[in-house]
Amino acid sequence: MTDTATLIPKPPRKLFVKTYGCQMNVYDSARMADVLAPHGFGPTDTAEDADMVILNTCHIREKAAEKVFSELGRLRALKMKRGFLLAVAGCVAQADGEEVMRRAPYVDIVLGPQTYHRLPEMVAKAARGEGQVLDTALSPEPKFDFLPEPKAEGAAAFLSIQEGCDKFCTYCVVPYTRGAEYSRPQDKILAEAEALAGQGVVEITLLGQNVSAWEDQVGLRLAGLIRRLARIGGIERLRYTTSHPADLDMELVDLFGEEPKLMPYLHLPVQAGSDRVLTAMNRGHDREDYFALAERLRRARPGLALSSDFIVGFPGETDADFEETMDLVREVGFVQAYSFKYSARPGTPASSMPGQVAERIKEERLARLQALLSEQTRAFNASCVGTTMAVLFDRPGRHPGQVVGRSPFMQPVHVENGAEFLGRVMPVRITAVHPNSLAGEMAGP
Ligand code: SAH
Ligand code: SF4
Ligand code: F3S
Repeated sequence: MTDTATLIPKPPRKLFVKTYGCQMNVYDSARMADVLAPHGFGPTDTAEDADMVILNTCHIREKAAEKVFSELGRLRALKMKRGFLLAVAGCVAQADGEEVMRRAPYVDIVLGPQTYHRLPEMVAKAARGEGQVLDTALSPEPKFDFLPEPKAEGAAAFLSIQEGCDKFCTYCVVPYTRGAEYSRPQDKILAEAEALAGQGVVEITLLGQNVSAWEDQVGLRLAGLIRRLARIGGIERLRYTTSHPADLDMELVDLFGEEPKLMPYLHLPVQAGSDRVLTAMNRGHDREDYFALAERLRRARPGLALSSDFIVGFPGETDADFEETMDLVREVGFVQAYSFKYSARPGTPASSMPGQVAERIKEERLARLQALLSEQTRAFNASCVGTTMAVLFDRPGRHPGQVVGRSPFMQPVHVENGAEFLGRVMPVRITAVHPNSLAGEMAGP
């Protein structure tokens, strides 16, 4: 093993962060870079020339967790060749930190999602050659108080307002990897939003594992927070994700009809359509509750689009149960969705439930569900042709002059000859549908 002290040169140093999993991890990766920036680390987009590599990992399904170990194998060879500091962060680190250190003794630092504000100390310790550093406390001390002001990377930004989960769905590792629900105080959130707006951010997506559970110490709930954020100069669009059907309160539902800056799009995972399965999952709501919620949302904001997450092959799921999921999808209609085969996760109640479903059946169900969901996405996208949508252009496209943005419904939209519109919301007439995006032209100011 190389002496770790030789692994980090003097500044400037290059940092490569590879992110797996959800948007919380995307946010955390950006914040880890912010934390290390004052210590001379600037970003690079490959491990090949990095002085430090961080894998920000996801534990949600077996495949996600296994990916990390294969990536570590690859990095090991590279590290032998040129040496760099190697850290494993995120949910695999939190759940299996000891195992990571054992299976990959060449990893220098293992840190959890709640400890990355201490990264500079960990780096210093690893550099002193004191062996592997492990810091995966699920500390009650909120890391947010120790983080520097975020640096915006474009016109759309994430802002983490809530962490952790107390829902304990029987299949899910998140309550164990992220800890108990915690809401950041309102003044800190408003200050971060102001700082982002000051850097040209136009759209903010509020993040939380259970963002609809956000509550300030003074009893203010998410709807009230969104109203305040909407008053910040420069902020034109607000979104939040991920909400849970059981704690989306009616004020928040009705806000879709009252606050035009709140985009008419909501990711509202339902997971399954059968009451028996929903109960076994411990979701805290039934099929009828979801229908009622969808209807009320659309009454508040006609044209509101829903997206969702689904799990097929949960233990005990019969053909009839699965048909109820298909039926729910037909009934509600989704513009976008993620669907997964149930993956048994160590330590979760569902992993030891009877009636584990055969892989072949999970695959058949997933294929049928995905065909239905993609047909709905396709039909929705096709229905947009000929309409005019407000698009926030946030990045350059593949060829010169092309710009890419997001519609209110999160569809990527590209337009030719629009470079001057980067960072702005513009009306765009949709002219064509491509497999993963829409094409349009400027519809005038
Ligand atoms: N907090 C969010 C999302 C959590 S994880 C929520 O409550 O909806 C994102 C998605 O991964 C979940 O919505 C679920 O569909 C899926 N998922 C979680 N655990 C899983 C497991 N063990 N097997 C398969 N999919 C899973
Ligand atoms: Fe997991 Fe359920 Fe919590 Fe979502 S609500 S993070 S699925 S336990
Ligand atoms: Fe994965 Fe952790 Fe997010 S397990 S889905 S990265 S909260």
